[in-house]
Amino acid sequence: MLVMPVILLQTVGCFSAMHPLQRVLRAQRCLRWGPLASVSRLLLRTCRACCNLSSTACPSPETQQEDGVRKDFSSRLAAGPTFQHFLRSASVPQEKLSSPDVEDPPPYLTVDELLGRQRKVYLETYGCQMNVNDTEIAWSILQKSGYLRTSNLQEADVILLVTCSIREKAEQTIWNRLRHLKALKTKRLRSRVPLKIGILGCMAERLKEEILNREKMVDILAGPDAYRDLPRLLAVAESGQQAANVLLSLDETYADVMPVQTSPSATSAFVSIMRGCDNMCSYCIVPFTRGRERSRPVASILEEVRKLSEQGLKEVTLLGQNVNSFRDNSEVQFNNAVSTNLSRGFSTNYKAKQGGLRFAHLLDQVSRIDPEMRIRFTSPHPKDFPDEVLQLIHERDNICKHIHLPAQSGSSRVLEAMRRGYSREAYVELIHHIREFIPGVSLSSDFIAGFCGETEEDHLQTVSLLREVQYNTGFLFAYSMRQKTRAYHRLKDDVPEEVKSRRLEELITVFRKEATKANKTSVGCTQLVLVEGLSKRSATDLCGRNDGNLKVIFPDVEMEDVTNSGLRVRAQPGDYVLVKITSASSQTLKGHVLCKTTLKDSSACC
Ligand code: 5AD
Ligand code: SF4
Repeated sequence: MLVMPVILLQTVGCFSAMHPLQRVLRAQRCLRWGPLASVSRLLLRTCRACCNLSSTACPSPETQQEDGVRKDFSSRLAAGPTFQHFLRSASVPQEKLSSPDVEDPPPYLTVDELLGRQRKVYLETYGCQMNVNDTEIAWSILQKSGYLRTSNLQEADVILLVTCSIREKAEQTIWNRLRHLKALKTKRLRSRVPLKIGILGCMAERLKEEILNREKMVDILAGPDAYRDLPRLLAVAESGQQAANVLLSLDETYADVMPVQTSPSATSAFVSIMRGCDNMCSYCIVPFTRGRERSRPVASILEEVRKLSEQGLKEVTLLGQNVNSFRDNSEVQFNNAVSTNLSRGFSTNYKAKQGGLRFAHLLDQVSRIDPEMRIRFTSPHPKDFPDEVLQLIHERDNICKHIHLPAQSGSSRVLEAMRRGYSREAYVELIHHIREFIPGVSLSSDFIAGFCGETEEDHLQTVSLLREVQYNTGFLFAYSMRQKTRAYHRLKDDVPEEVKSRRLEELITVFRKEATKANKTSVGCTQLVLVEGLSKRSATDLCGRNDGNLKVIFPDVEMEDVTNSGLRVRAQPGDYVLVKITSASSQTLKGHVLCKTTLKDSSACC
C-alpha cells in the first residue's frame, strides 16, 4: 500500500513496544535507504538480520561481513521478522485482520488480544452517505475480528462515532455527544469491562490529537483510511492506552471488504466506487480529511453488485466523493482506454489525468448486471458529465433519470472564488444540454449561502439560478469556514452570520416554491415506484421512491399483480408498482397504486 508523503501515525501514551512503522523508519535510517519503494531485495534481507541483532546498535551490513558474522547471518536471517512483516504492519494488515484467526499480530500484541472476544460494539453515524457506508465497512472489519454488534447503547463495550467535519455544526454535535458518553463511561460499573470510546472518520482526521487531549475519555481515533487497523487500535486501548491511526492512503478503497447490510430487509444498498477528492474547492475540508482521489477496481465493484442482485436487492447507489470522476487505473492495459472529456466549459484545479476505465464504462457494466435493479450514483461533480454518461442514463431503463448537479452558487464571481472550475453560463448550458439528452430528468443541487465576499448581488444571482433551473430536490447550507482550506488561508469570512442565515432562508423559500412547481408537473402521471415499506406518518400508507428519487406515498391496498396472471396482492418492500400521482409538494408526491409490475415491463408515463 502506498502511503501519502505526509504521515501522522501517532500512538498516544506509553507504548511498551515501538510501533511497526517506527521500526520501518528506523530500519530505513539505519540502512540509509532511498524511498521505500526502491529498496532492493538485498537491503531487505540485510535489514531483517540487522534488526534482529540488536534493538539499539545498527551496524552496516558491510561491517557485519567484515566482522566475520557471515556464517551466522543466514540462520539469523531465517529466524528474524521479514521485511514484509514491517511493511504489512506499517500499512495495516489487509487480509489478516479481516479473519478471526489472525496469524501475524504486531510484535507487541498477541493473536488473542487482536480478537474482539465477543465485546459488543455500538456504532453511531453522522454526516453523509459515505459515512453510512464507512460504518458498514468498519463493522465488517470488526465482525470478522470477533466483535458483536449491539443497538443498545447501555450494553455496549465499545462505542464508535463515525464523524463528519464538513461544517462547524457537524463537529459541535459530536462534542456534545461526547459529553453525554463521558457520563456513561464514568458511571460504568466496575464489574463490567471498561467502556471504550472511539472517533472514526473525518473529525478524527481533521483534529487528530486535539480530540484525545480535549476529551481524555476518547480511547481511539481512526481516520477514513484506517478502518482495517481498528482491531489493533482497540487491542491497544484495552491496555489503557489511547491509540490513533490517521494515516491517509493513496490506494485504500476497501475493495475486498464487503460492507455488512445493516438492515436485512433493505431494498437498496450503497456501493462505494471511489474515495477522496482532488478538486480542492476553496471552501471544502473533504480533500484534507478523506485524502486523494482513488477508484476501486471495476471487477470488485461488479462482483459486489452481482452479490447484491443475488440477495434480491432492487437498487444500488454508486457512492463516492466525486463519483463520476471514477478512473480505474488498476491494470496497465486500462491506460489505453479511450479518454473521455470534461463537460463543455468546465475545467479542473489539477493537471489532466490520462487513461483508466472511466465512469461511463462502469455505469454500462453495472447496469447490465440485473435489468430489475435500479442504478443511482452520488455525489457527482458537474465537470464530469461527458455525453457518453448522459447517453447511457438516457438509454438504460434501469439507470435512474436523476442527476445531482451541485452548483454551490449562481454567481460566476463567487464560483471563481470557490474554485469550482465553471461559470454560471457554463453550468446553465450543461443543464440545458442534460435536459435535451434526457427529457424529464429530475435535478437536484447543493448551494452555499454567504461564502467569502458574497455580495447581495451575488446572492440574487443564486436566487435567480434556483428560479431558472427549478430543481426537484435541493441541499442548502450556510457557509462555515474550515481551517486548512484555501478560503481559510486566502479569503475573508466576511458575511455576518445573521446575513448568512437570512440569505439561506431566502434560498430555501425560493427553492421550495420552485420544487413544488417542478414536482406538480408529475400530477396525473403514472410513475414506477420501488416500494420501501410503511409510511412513517401513517400505518395505512406505503412509501417508496420514483425514478427521480422523490418520496411517493400511497394507500396500502390490494392491486393487480401483472407479473403473476393478475393475482390480487398487497405491495411488499422491494416490489415495483405503478402509482398514479394525484398531488405534489416540494418534497413528496402522493397517489394511488395501480398494479404490481417489473422495471422492464413497466409502462410509466410522463
Ligand atoms: N460550508 C458550508 N457548506 C459546505 N459544503 C462543503 N463545504 C462547506 C462549508 N465549508 C457543502 C457543499 C457540498 C456539500 C456536501 O456540503 O454544498 O456540496
Ligand atoms: Fe469538496 Fe469540492 Fe471535493 Fe465536493 S468536489 S468534496 S465540494 S472539494
